[in-house]
Amino acid sequence: MDPNKKKLFNRQTEAKLGGGIKRIEKQHQKKKLTARERVELLLDEGSFEEMDMFVSHRTTDFGMEKQLFFGDGVVTGYGTINNRLVYIFSQDFTVFGGSLSETHAEKICKIMDLAIKVGAPVIGLNDSGGARIQEGVRSLGGYADIFYRNVQASGVIPQISAIMGPCAGGAVYSPAITDFTLMIEDTSYMFVTGPNVVKTVTNEEVTSEELGGASTHSTKSGVTHLTSANDVTGIQDIKILLSYIPQNNQEKAPDLPYKIGEEIRSELDGIVPSDTHKPYDIKKVIEGTCDKDSFFEIHKEYAENIVIGFARLAGKSIGIVANQPMSLAGVLDVDSSKKGARFVRFCDAFNIPLLVLEDVPGFLPGTDQEWRGIIINGAKLLYAFSEATVPRITVITRKAYGGAYDVMNSKHIGADMNFAWPTAEIAVMGAKGAAEIIFKNEIKEAKDPKKKWEEKEAEYADKFAHPYRAARRGFIDEIILPKNTRRKLIKAFAMLENKKINRPKRKHGNIPL
Ligand code: HXC
Repeated sequence: MDPNKKKLFNRQTEAKLGGGIKRIEKQHQKKKLTARERVELLLDEGSFEEMDMFVSHRTTDFGMEKQLFFGDGVVTGYGTINNRLVYIFSQDFTVFGGSLSETHAEKICKIMDLAIKVGAPVIGLNDSGGARIQEGVRSLGGYADIFYRNVQASGVIPQISAIMGPCAGGAVYSPAITDFTLMIEDTSYMFVTGPNVVKTVTNEEVTSEELGGASTHSTKSGVTHLTSANDVTGIQDIKILLSYIPQNNQEKAPDLPYKIGEEIRSELDGIVPSDTHKPYDIKKVIEGTCDKDSFFEIHKEYAENIVIGFARLAGKSIGIVANQPMSLAGVLDVDSSKKGARFVRFCDAFNIPLLVLEDVPGFLPGTDQEWRGIIINGAKLLYAFSEATVPRITVITRKAYGGAYDVMNSKHIGADMNFAWPTAEIAVMGAKGAAEIIFKNEIKEAKDPKKKWEEKEAEYADKFAHPYRAARRGFIDEIILPKNTRRKLIKAFAMLENKKINRPKRKHGNIPL
């Protein structure tokens, strides 16, 4: 072989081995793929173009000059997913535990800068022990360089983070700024400091899984939006997620081919129970309304009283925010408000129309919620809807009570089309509670207070437990039969397709964070 060719080939071969065969085997024993295997699986076959393969660190402390690995613990470059351009970095745990050095950070920043200039998503496959301990402040600076770019890219290009190993310290803050975080069950962890440091500082004994495993972050903290059983299914999930979102904030999400038919869905007619206190599964309404099998749920196990996710309607991508009567009667609380607000803001930033399915008895009362700041957190959802300029449609299926009526994409805060099913109840509160308050004296003084209360409850329900008062004022554009919902929505979203809103000039609003 030509010596120049041989030299290049040998170096490429060495680079592809990362930290060496032994460490690759260890990675496989832990049921984890290597950085390169993940890239191959994620990108269209043969589309990956690697950059900076021969970069290595510049540290000389602690004998580091003798431990040089091509690539310095991260594989970077670009390629395509379903023929759409993406930029990618994949941390290589076999090289210093995927830890971030100054040069490792420079590689990531380089592809982020390109992604921002060109307008394509950045996907980070994270598997890193955090800042490279041997480098001190230079690795901290490297992290800050990435964080800064995460923020500059936010709302400009989609940023997706997969956590595919133990990620500590700085390795969790970049994902926290990105749009979506996905974790792998049993093999990935996210924490600012691991169990050993926790024990030293707080004397608390906790396992890695309890402290920062996928189940913790998908149910308790809400840090992760998606969890997956293993690397392979996790990578599939990233591809599905990407299919619903555009390349950048100037574009629209890709449409799937769809031929409009009759679009009547009779199965929607029987979902809401006649007993107003009985729960039902809002996901059945979503399934009945959207294209078959198109619903891709986000934050599935966190704050289950609100359901969010992407779906398609006649082939077009939409974002769904829906109260879930099956969980806490669909009430709005701190966690569900935050969950909904962040999703609304993502959809708005990336031109994805919003559909709201509303059945909400109000905000959750009580000391726990007040002390956790339901006022400021509920306001996040109100703010997010109010500032959104994408097409916005609401369907009230049953309850729209109190402040939650205003918040859940009401006409008053800028929704474009508001439909109600005949079962909708739009009122300040439920009839029972309302009767108790406004007819307190009459009930107390009655010969039979229970009977009086029931009478007054019926009177209030007759006046308000329906959608016709709101429709009379134009707060509801149309009262529709459930089976016609899909047809109405397809037409209404098509009508709104060219919606444009010019906001007054300002640096940015001040969302109640
Ligand atoms: C340099 C590191 C490293 C690091 C791991 N390694 N973390 N090298 N810097 N941060 C190396 C190990 O020396 C080892 O090298 C190899 O990676 C694999 O590590 P193991 O410990 O054998 O693996 P495992 O048992 O799976 O444990 C993984 C781990 C643990 C949980 C990530 O290594 C760990 O706790 N690392 C330190 C985490 C940490 O505190 N990072 C700093 C956070 S501070 P060999 O040669 O044996 O293969 C931070 C500040 C930024 O990030 C803040 C910004 C806001």
